Amino acid sequence: MNNAYDIAYRRSLDDPSGFWGEAAADIKWIKTWDKVLDESKAPFYRWFSGAVVNTCYNAVDRHVEEGRGAQAAIIYDSPVAGVVRHISYAELQDLTARFAGVLAGLGVAKGDRVIIYMPMVPEAAVAMLACARLGAIHSVVFGGFAANELATRINDAAPKVIVSASCGLEGQKVIAYKPLLDQAIELASHKPAHTVILARPQVVATMVAGRDLDWAEAVAGAKPHACVPVAATDPLYILYTSGTTGQPKGVVRDNGGHMVALKWSMKYVYNVAPGEVYWAASDVGWVVGHSYIVYAPLLHGCTTVLYEGKPVGTPDAGAFWRVIAQHKVQTLFTAPTAFRAIKRDDPEALLLKQYDLSHFRTLFLAGERSDPDTLQWAERYLKVPVIDHWWQTETGWAICANCMGLQQFPVKHGSPTKAVPGWNVQVLDEGHHNCPPGQVGALVVKLPLPPGTLPTLWNADQRFIDSYLYEYPGYYKTADAGFIDEDGYVYVMSRTDDIINVAGHRLSTGAMEEVLASHPDVAECAVIGVHDTMKGQLPLGFLVLKAGVTKPAEQILKEVVTLVRERIGPVAAFKTATIVQRLPKTRSGKILRGTMQKIADHEDYKMPATIDDPGILDEIEDSLTAIGYARAR
Ligand code: COA
Ligand code: AMP
Repeated sequence: MNNAYDIAYRRSLDDPSGFWGEAAADIKWIKTWDKVLDESKAPFYRWFSGAVVNTCYNAVDRHVEEGRGAQAAIIYDSPVAGVVRHISYAELQDLTARFAGVLAGLGVAKGDRVIIYMPMVPEAAVAMLACARLGAIHSVVFGGFAANELATRINDAAPKVIVSASCGLEGQKVIAYKPLLDQAIELASHKPAHTVILARPQVVATMVAGRDLDWAEAVAGAKPHACVPVAATDPLYILYTSGTTGQPKGVVRDNGGHMVALKWSMKYVYNVAPGEVYWAASDVGWVVGHSYIVYAPLLHGCTTVLYEGKPVGTPDAGAFWRVIAQHKVQTLFTAPTAFRAIKRDDPEALLLKQYDLSHFRTLFLAGERSDPDTLQWAERYLKVPVIDHWWQTETGWAICANCMGLQQFPVKHGSPTKAVPGWNVQVLDEGHHNCPPGQVGALVVKLPLPPGTLPTLWNADQRFIDSYLYEYPGYYKTADAGFIDEDGYVYVMSRTDDIINVAGHRLSTGAMEEVLASHPDVAECAVIGVHDTMKGQLPLGFLVLKAGVTKPAEQILKEVVTLVRERIGPVAAFKTATIVQRLPKTRSGKILRGTMQKIADHEDYKMPATIDDPGILDEIEDSLTAIGYARAR
């Protein structure tokens, strides 16, 4: 075949330097590279080494210079606050330069870290861009995490400054952020010198004199700061994501490769032109928010929508249609769970009839497996292509997609279509041999990964190797299992580790087990992800109590639910646990979580050959039946 996709895909693998070197012409460099792909420290590959650049310049200033000053860069839409605000590129340049001045005034310079713990307000994007302007490294922490998780990230990133807000608006709830921030700083061993707090009208924050600055006052007295030249290989940000333990992984993103890949993706994956309105309905705290609320649309000269609302309840299941119609959105990117929520509340999409969506072109879904039912529902009512695409926090952009700007392939429901140019995706069996078409194995990507992906983990080169490169030498382990069919369509089936996906949010069951195990009455525990029709998966805990515990079971169950909420955060959605006498294990003592999950989800399972005592599975089934999971025997 000789279609545009095949040509681009082959070239990207045969001549990666040529392919990405050409794509890099879309970025404005202060100095161009010595090498497009630098393999000198493999497996720590680097893209565009020797080049000098600034990400904020390419995302903001260059558009003002090129005549987009009056175009909206950001449309902030907050249905609960009742605010719609258009921020032009010229205004964004001013806001960003002045906030960079604030940070510089607090001693933040190139290479320093700044934590951003903010709700979905434009100031979150301004703070990110201001860091990029200075060459400082931002680390955005999602608002739904508890103080303890924030403290872990403060210790690891050791920020000079933390930027936050008095509160977030989470659906109809007002969440005070400042007490959580104060608690996190209290818990952390590293103390930031300053915080900058955005005062929102809904909540007044209590400020610590000398440490906490008011955003508006600080900006009023600040001088605009120019863009600081940085190496293309310098880190732009750290984004912590769930690992297999309570210690999250700090995914690092560089400046140069990141810009090249994201800008390329806007044209070839999303088929979006500069000047168009692009909306990623996610949160700036997640990778989708970094890549497709902030950086990619701005690098491409688009208008990005920053929506501080939910798909349902703000005020109803027509919220997405209202935003698309009101702001003339051409492309929407969200997680399938958002569409499941809309479908649940308005199964026949009656609210859609109130809006004119004639300019709407494509819906992209990612973050979890797109169930064919939801995807077909969206196709039926929206009457536009609905494109599933697969990616991870680590990769920063899509590994597999139907590249709408190259060649639109027929959709096969359940598949995110084909490997995107740059991604040599393969399926390996346990013996590290390529699986034949249709056979499930480990989804891996042959090294080097394309630009825009993680060059390493923050302060943890060895963990980077151990987590991703060690098991399959020469490949990046995605930790997803799946297969490729005869036509080259990739199917992503499940994680091979203890990560679960709850409402499009990535969570570690291992981290939840650490919290449960810390309860004084718990001897042993396990957490699994069980199927949920709305959120995709939900965590479910099993507790074995210590001998002699007399406290009522209900109380212990309540306490562990509270403990997970306090330590990890409400986003963990840990609401159900059950007490069992024993956990099923292999003879070597490994807990059979996979088998427990199959029982809970009513799936057929094979009795594991290595099980220590098969009778325990009946006990597990009975306790699951008692709480509404599994089927009665
Ligand atoms: N700050 C504080 N709390 C937050 C939060 C934030 N930014 N985000 C979520 N939470 C809280 C919620 O209020 C909820 O708390 P509760 O237990 O008191 O009700 C809890 O965390 C779980 O949140 P969530 O999983 O989002 O469930 P929900 O029932 O509030 O909403 C959806 C369900 C499907 C509507 C919602 O998850 C959604 O819109 N998802 C879109 C997908 C998405 O953004 N994915 C990101 C990757 S693309
Ligand atoms: P995150 O790092 O939060 O983006 O989560 C990444 C994980 O989400 C992947 O490893 C997959 O398990 C899952 N995921 C993301 N997109 C898809 C998709 N389109 N299809 C199936 N699983 C997906």
